[in-house]
Amino acid sequence: MKRILLAVVVFALCLVGAGPVDSSKMQYDEKGNLLRPADYRDWMFLSAGFGMNYSPEPGSHEMFTNVFVQRWAYQQFLKSGKWPEQTAFVIDERDAESKGSINKKGHYQTDLMGLAVEVKDSARNPDKWAYYAFDANGKTAGAMPKGNGCWSCHDEHAAVEHTFVQFYPTLKPVAKKFGVYNEAREKVQDAK
Ligand code: HEC
Repeated sequence: MKRILLAVVVFALCLVGAGPVDSSKMQYDEKGNLLRPADYRDWMFLSAGFGMNYSPEPGSHEMFTNVFVQRWAYQQFLKSGKWPEQTAFVIDERDAESKGSINKKGHYQTDLMGLAVEVKDSARNPDKWAYYAFDANGKTAGAMPKGNGCWSCHDEHAAVEHTFVQFYPTLKPVAKKFGVYNEAREKVQDAK
């Protein structure tokens, strides 16, 4: 009886201990769809883009993009230059406004327009990296088929593994220090 009690206490302590570390690992439903990460705005902020577009045709409405990665994964990247298994990135797309309050020029961010997620997980994904796109209010998203472009653009153009570290100013020197930065990916080129 005492042993069982001890086991229960140890198990409970493990759960408490693991809590803060594991709280930002991705969760899936029974069909394997990714659940929308709730707290990603508390993750590490990597950078913002404005009106970034990978096609030379004139774009429509320009939006902001904000990129986040889990803090535990960021810490491991700083130590190793590698993204650990189960790293997830979120890019949130925000509408841009110019006139409001005292603002006269430039742009500021407003409503969420969409959310894209990228997960490194060799056990779950045959191609290691999986891609998901959520509507502004979407709660779950299925993995994108490999042929739709997410995987291949990231594979062919990102400077570190599948991630666009060439656009993340705080990570670029870290990647260079560990020799994992693909300089050629900085060259001006077309996405195709
Ligand atoms: C034509 C190339 C291209 C395609 C296709 C593409 N991306 Fe990206 N993706 C980028 C670039 C460039 C960035 C860096 C954006 C920035 O700096 O704001 C990026 C950044 C990201 C990030 C942030 C982490 C990282 O890898 O740097 C996520 C998450 C992401 N994309 C998900 C997706 C998903 C999901 C799809 C498909 C629905 C997709 N991407 C399709 C080029 C692409």
